[in-house]
Amino acid sequence: MSMDRRMFLAAGAAAAAGLALPRRGWTQAAGATARLRLFPDRIIGRVRPELHGQFAEHLGACIYGGLWVGRDSRIPNDEGYRADAIKYLAALGIPVLRWPGGCYADDYHWRNGVGPDRPHTVNIWWGGVVDNNSFGTHEFIGLCRKIGAEPYLAGNVGSGSPEELRDWMEYCNYPSGSTLAEERARNGSPQPFNVRYWGIGNESWGCGGDMRPEEYATLYRRYANFLHSFGGVRPVMIASGPNGNDIRWTRGLMDGLGRTRPGGISMHFYEGGDAPPTQFTREQVVKQLAIFDRVEAAIGQQRSILDGYFGGAQVGLVLDEWGVWDRPGPEVEARYGRLWQQDTQRGAAAAGLGLNIFNRQADKLYMCNIAQMVNVLQSLLLTDGPDGERCIRTPTYYVFAMFKPHRGRDSVQTQAEGGGAAPLSASATRQDRQMLVTLVNPSPDGVVQVDCDFGGLAAEGRAQILHDPDWNACNTFDQPNRIVPRPHPVTAGRRGLRVAVPGLAVVALEVRLS
Ligand code: AHR
Repeated sequence: MSMDRRMFLAAGAAAAAGLALPRRGWTQAAGATARLRLFPDRIIGRVRPELHGQFAEHLGACIYGGLWVGRDSRIPNDEGYRADAIKYLAALGIPVLRWPGGCYADDYHWRNGVGPDRPHTVNIWWGGVVDNNSFGTHEFIGLCRKIGAEPYLAGNVGSGSPEELRDWMEYCNYPSGSTLAEERARNGSPQPFNVRYWGIGNESWGCGGDMRPEEYATLYRRYANFLHSFGGVRPVMIASGPNGNDIRWTRGLMDGLGRTRPGGISMHFYEGGDAPPTQFTREQVVKQLAIFDRVEAAIGQQRSILDGYFGGAQVGLVLDEWGVWDRPGPEVEARYGRLWQQDTQRGAAAAGLGLNIFNRQADKLYMCNIAQMVNVLQSLLLTDGPDGERCIRTPTYYVFAMFKPHRGRDSVQTQAEGGGAAPLSASATRQDRQMLVTLVNPSPDGVVQVDCDFGGLAAEGRAQILHDPDWNACNTFDQPNRIVPRPHPVTAGRRGLRVAVPGLAVVALEVRLS
């Protein structure tokens, strides 16, 4: 679906829900201070590693030319996977990876991507290009193994059938003895893939079938009826949820499910941008980053709707696609691939705002997948076009790296006071005496001096900062290390530790409580 329509729907849903519209004019006064109170014993919930999940679609240069170059490529590769990409992603550790779409998923027929004879099919969603299907199920599982990711397959509901999805599940998960399991073995994998996460369609309100929620709910029940624990792997089935905070969709879906409880429902929430990524004005920065307030409100509202069903039993809330969606322009897309988007210091702030929200809402979320992992939208890695050898890490990659120690820890309550016009974004996790506090200043300019108060406990800490004073600055193929984490001073504050957070900077403060 078009970005304009998506934003229109998201804005409409937000307005219907009575949510605040973006605040304008976050300008930070010089010398602003903030007090951040941390409550190490008030636990919100565990930060599931899956909140740092990723998404990869057959779109532009994400798969072909991005992750997969083929064994015969002149681009250095590891069994067909771009070697640099694998190295960087494995170093970060990718908790979960969703594939093959996106919109593409609802026109993907898995049989085209297994075995020696693969048809060439047309990618109807992303430019009508020919997909030779050289990257299919086995190649996806191979990728997941190389980068340490749990696989998440998005099934075809829009143009597929329950039989087709049921067979894909058996092919992937049944250990041996069935015709499909034997076929998998002949295709190179006697061992089952043991895929737990299964999406039952994607954006079924839009590119996934243009359905009404009650129609989709009926279809979901029919699919779920045939999807079983092949080989003992209990599938976590994720139903296609709302566009943004579309409450009408979620209620219609949940009402229509009857007794069939999904493992999760997916919500997609993009933060649209009004300009090419490296040409944002101050107003455009403020407008885009303010959308994160709506994301956080949507998580709370969607969670409370879900809690009203199945006796309050958990249906996981999955933020299946999120991130900034800018307007790179036709020349950039023609050179580098569809939806290829530079990532800037503003992107870093956006990533930090999102990941801080997920920590603060850790008790309400099951999984979050940023869109997308390589070369599409807010990606971790960019390549110099599909044929280029160079591969760089974006500021967003480094934000995920700075947040990595949060994974698996308990999120604890924080309370920020002051900070001038822009509300400081903060979150913290704890493991024994170790804490990680992550801070983002959402104002494009100015510096906030943040006094961190650990409830009177003595603390010592060290920090890293990701910052460039130019919000349009980015890492380029010629200057790949312009924006990387750097050591940042921490001093003794009035009640604990003091750290400075410049405009749009992301700061990670590691603390040891005594
Ligand atoms: O991430 C790009 C597209 O955005 C996906 O294919 C679709 O699910 C969403 O509309």
